[in-house]
This record gives sequence, C-alpha cells and structure tokens, in this order.
Amino acid sequence: MQEVSGSIPLSSTIISFPPLGTLPWATNPPDHGMVMFVVFEGGDGVGKSTQINQVSRVLTQRGIPHITTREPGGTPPAEAVRRALLYEKDQPWPLWAEVFLLAAARAHHLAHVIRPALARGDWVLCDRFTESTRAYQHQAYAENPALFDAIVHQATGGLTPDLTFVFHLNEGQRLSRRAGNPDDCFESRNHDFQHQVAAHFANLAHNPPAGYVFLQADQPIGTLTQGIVDTMTAKQKGVV
Ligand code: TYD
Repeated sequence: MQEVSGSIPLSSTIISFPPLGTLPWATNPPDHGMVMFVVFEGGDGVGKSTQINQVSRVLTQRGIPHITTREPGGTPPAEAVRRALLYEKDQPWPLWAEVFLLAAARAHHLAHVIRPALARGDWVLCDRFTESTRAYQHQAYAENPALFDAIVHQATGGLTPDLTFVFHLNEGQRLSRRAGNPDDCFESRNHDFQHQVAAHFANLAHNPPAGYVFLQADQPIGTLTQGIVDTMTAKQKGVV
C-alpha cells in the first residue's frame, strides 16, 4: 500500500488534554459572543462524522446554540446534488464538472443554512467545505487553477471558516476503518486518485493555512473531542 511520503507534524497540535470537567469554562460558561464557523476535513473514513456528533453533544451541554451540517448537501436541493455526484457510478461526471455542481450546492447551502445560522448567532459545525473541493477536484484544473479559484470563490462569496480541523489517518488505517462500507463514486476511484487526496491533506499540514488544526485521527474518541472543544474555546478567547 502506497503511503503519503514525508513526516507529518500532526500530533504536534493536539497531544494531551485535561478531562472535560477541568476545562476552564466547565464551571465558567464561555462568552457566547463569537459565533464560530467550524469545518471538519480529511479523507474518507477518518471519523469526522463521529467527532461532529461528539462536539455537538458538548456544545449542547454547554448551552451553545449550534447546527451540524454537511457538504455536499445541507439543503434538500444540495442533497439532491450530493446524490447526483456520489451515486452515479455507471455514468460519472467529468471531474472538472463536479466543481460546478459542488459550487452550486455550496451556494445554496450557504444562502439558506450556513449564513442564516451565523446571522442568528448559532455556531456551525460543517462536515467538509472548500478544502475538500481542493483535495478531490483541484487536480482537474492543473491547466487553469485561476478558474478553479474563481468558481470556489464565487460560491462562498469569500466566507471562510474560523477553524478547520483536518483529520489524518495513514492509508492502511483508513482502509481498514472503511472495510465493509460500500464505496460511493469518489471512494471507488483508483488508488492514485485516493493517494493524491491524502497527499493534499498531508501537504497542508507542512504549511498550514491560518485557522487550520491537524489531528491524528487514531487517538481515542474522547481525547479528540476534548482537543477540538479546547481549541474552539481558545479560538473564541483569541488565544489561537
Ligand atoms: P463524506 O460525507 O465525508 O462521505 P463519507 O461520510 O461517506 O466519508 O463525503 C462525501 C464525498 O464527497 C467524499 O468522498 C468527498 C467528496 N467531496 C468532494 O469530492 N468534493 C467536495 O467539495 C466535497 C465537499 C466532498
């Protein structure tokens, strides 16, 4: 099995955390002033959905209003785009054209779910966003990266997440977690494609964009959740 080359400074960001009860705001509720848009990214089968559910539970316990959502999807028409993209195995879309569908779905999702939630003060926890489009579709725009950037920017209107958590598992771990799950179109693509996706996320860790946090996804579920919540709290306080 081919692995992403190079060492990845992943666990440097989150190593060990105090139990949730000892976090400063467990007794002093946080200032809910800063509304946060938080995105969870990574390859298929890295455990994003589990963490979104866990973090959502913690936010609920803390009385922080929030929504959880996902891409592609999040509204009924965008979920229809998701089905059109993920389950047309016999007649797949050209990779470049997927960007148009994803952008349309994202624009709908932003207009009708994400922006209204942020405007009324709800935090948004979103399973995938623009970094997935870079990881999975950017390779189709090698000859015209400016066009790719323009489409992605058109869809978001420049809105960027406050925090993006990128989950990493090595290829062997990821595949063994996915064993038995039926593949969608993206997951059934060849190994080179999957390798490029993994390499994209791994390379980001070497030169992290602002607001990105890289997580070694094979840590215990509770440890990861605490790390994520702790980072969100620090961000809210302006510490990171
Ligand atoms: P996901 O919901 O993470 O699927 P699963 O829970 O089954 O792992 O993501 C669905 C697929 O959509 C995933 O293979 C990545 C792909 N995708 C893109 O190719 N481009 C994008 O911009 C987005 C948001 C997702």
